[in-house]
Amino acid sequence: MVRPTAWLLGGLLGLMWVIPVLMTPTTIAQCTSLKTLETKLTDRRRNMRHNFPINYTIRVHFEEVFKLSNISRLRVRVVDLEEGDLQDVWLLVNQEVLKRILRVLPEKHPSYKYTADLEDLFRKVQQVFPPQSDEKEPPERIEDIYNRVKEPDSKGWRFVTPKSLLDNCYRTMHCLFKNCFPSEDGEQDYCSTPHWRKGRKRQLQET
Ligand SMILES: *[C@@H]1O[C@H](CO)[C@@H](O)[C@H](O)[C@H]1NC(C)=O
Ligand SMILES: *[C@@H]1O[C@H](CO)[C@@H](O)[C@H](O)[C@H]1NC(C)=O
Repeated sequence: MVRPTAWLLGGLLGLMWVIPVLMTPTTIAQCTSLKTLETKLTDRRRNMRHNFPINYTIRVHFEEVFKLSNISRLRVRVVDLEEGDLQDVWLLVNQEVLKRILRVLPEKHPSYKYTADLEDLFRKVQQVFPPQSDEKEPPERIEDIYNRVKEPDSKGWRFVTPKSLLDNCYRTMHCLFKNCFPSEDGEQDYCSTPHWRKGRKRQLQET
């Protein structure tokens, strides 16, 4: 009677594979789409700075400036906050940011295609993140952000360079999806601003 044992073993082995997958907060499909986006974003300096006039800024809602400091503030102040809430905010805010950048670009601008491609990649990321709103209402503070981002007549405007908006996008992505960006030098503190200052110095030396 080898069969039942084999089945049992097979079943157990199967479970051992399934459990870690269920337990990881981000799935493989999510990481794949985020990594494609990350690769594209590494080209942001050329597309969002060099192709624009010096110090060129665009007008965005206060809420569209979503930085590492916003994440740490929300984590401290909002009870019941889930990682998924922050990830949803990240998705929404950055899609709005890309719309705003596209709005100021004529189709023949050298950064138009780059920005449109980023928008497409965001749509692909969105597809592998099922909306969680059906099961649970997000905390009020998060709802407020959604509402204000969607509010066309908002009075809270800021002027920011497109490059700094995409820097925010890149850094907060690493902070919120750190499982997808493992590093060879061990655990990286992507959520801390000093981590990126170091990175910046390295980059400047290389260029
Ligand atoms: C751009 O901004 C920097 C920092 O605010 C300033 O030092 C520089 O003079 C500005 N350049 C131009 C051309 O406005
Ligand atoms: C991030 O913080 C700034 C203030 O530093 C605020 O204006 C903005 O609304 C915040 N963004 C979000 C999405 O909460």
